[in-house]
Amino acid sequence: RKGNFEHFMQKKIHEQPDSLTMTMRGRLIRGREQKAKGILLGGLKDHLKTIRRSRRILFIGCGTSYNAALAARPVVEELSGIPVTMEIASDLLDRQGPIYREDTAIFVSQSGETADTLQALEYAKSNGALCVGITNTVGSAIARGTHCGIHLNAGCEIGVASTKAYTSQIAVIVMLALALGDDSLSTQQRRNAIMDDLYNLPSKVRDVLKLDKHMKELAALLMDEQSLLVFGRGYNYATALECALKVKQVSLMHAEGIVAGDMKHGPLALVDETIPIIVIATRDACLNKQQSVRQQLKARKGRLIVMCTEGDAEFMCPDRRCRIIEVPKVQDCLQPIINIVPLQLLAYHLTVFRGFNVDQPRNLAKSVTTQ
Ligand code: M6R
Repeated sequence: RKGNFEHFMQKKIHEQPDSLTMTMRGRLIRGREQKAKGILLGGLKDHLKTIRRSRRILFIGCGTSYNAALAARPVVEELSGIPVTMEIASDLLDRQGPIYREDTAIFVSQSGETADTLQALEYAKSNGALCVGITNTVGSAIARGTHCGIHLNAGCEIGVASTKAYTSQIAVIVMLALALGDDSLSTQQRRNAIMDDLYNLPSKVRDVLKLDKHMKELAALLMDEQSLLVFGRGYNYATALECALKVKQVSLMHAEGIVAGDMKHGPLALVDETIPIIVIATRDACLNKQQSVRQQLKARKGRLIVMCTEGDAEFMCPDRRCRIIEVPKVQDCLQPIINIVPLQLLAYHLTVFRGFNVDQPRNLAKSVTTQ
């Protein structure tokens, strides 16, 4: 049921404070005075040691699920110290890429039934890797076929566009990173800070949802555009990809997510005074680099929409000639969860303004069970 909402996609976007709470329930353990204490992932407890001994972790998925793993990859590398590689399931199969017994292969899938991801699972199993599932569907083929796993507990998604599963997937993978790193004293402070912000995440998502009206106004300005570019980097490279995927998938507007560090290797040629560009520049270790990207895009007369941390509008747009999306700050590895929410709202409102079917975009199925 849609309740007070007009479309399921809209409802699921607004449900994210609750879906994230459900994803973390019983897993984020609080100690005295509500201080962060640890992470409990029941489905992995007998396998964490093996994962810690892996030579490599591979994340394997498609579409939005792939993007979620990409968003969380840096913190897995940071806290586990294990090299992480990313695989789009179909590409891994096309290449028959090497997988070894010493690898841990993590399959990320909302439905747990995606044909390519499922076939990649069979392939990884036959090569002897430890296979871990991260799915939202209890009893799904991927949940049954993996050696161990974590359920998202995000509740069902009805529209074709994945929204709340995306944010829950990132939260689960961040919790996995915390669990993998919890034998290290040197990262204790960092882990505590992440756990504290995980605890506060649902209320921060509630805050960022208040941008709905602002995103609707922005969508009204962009609705007749042909194309949208989205520049992100570091933790928010995945946010750029996921924003572009959402926009093209539901609003049928061409959109491209670009890793900002690659701008001068091609994409810069597209920039002129006509094409709208979103620059994701929230505070993290890449902020100065993103500031310089913004300046270079501005020098080419780019029509900029800058996503920045609350209070940074003046710094990120001194001439006040760009549009601003200000979002609350959280630990860098959780920022992609906050940053994607207004961009999901943008995709939603663009679609309504453009008159397309929000919950059933043309040519797409919720679960891709054929290859
Ligand atoms: O069920 P899965 O997560 O395995 O599905 C993978 C993709 O088909 C899916 O994420 C798709 O990209 C989204 N529905 C897009 O919103």
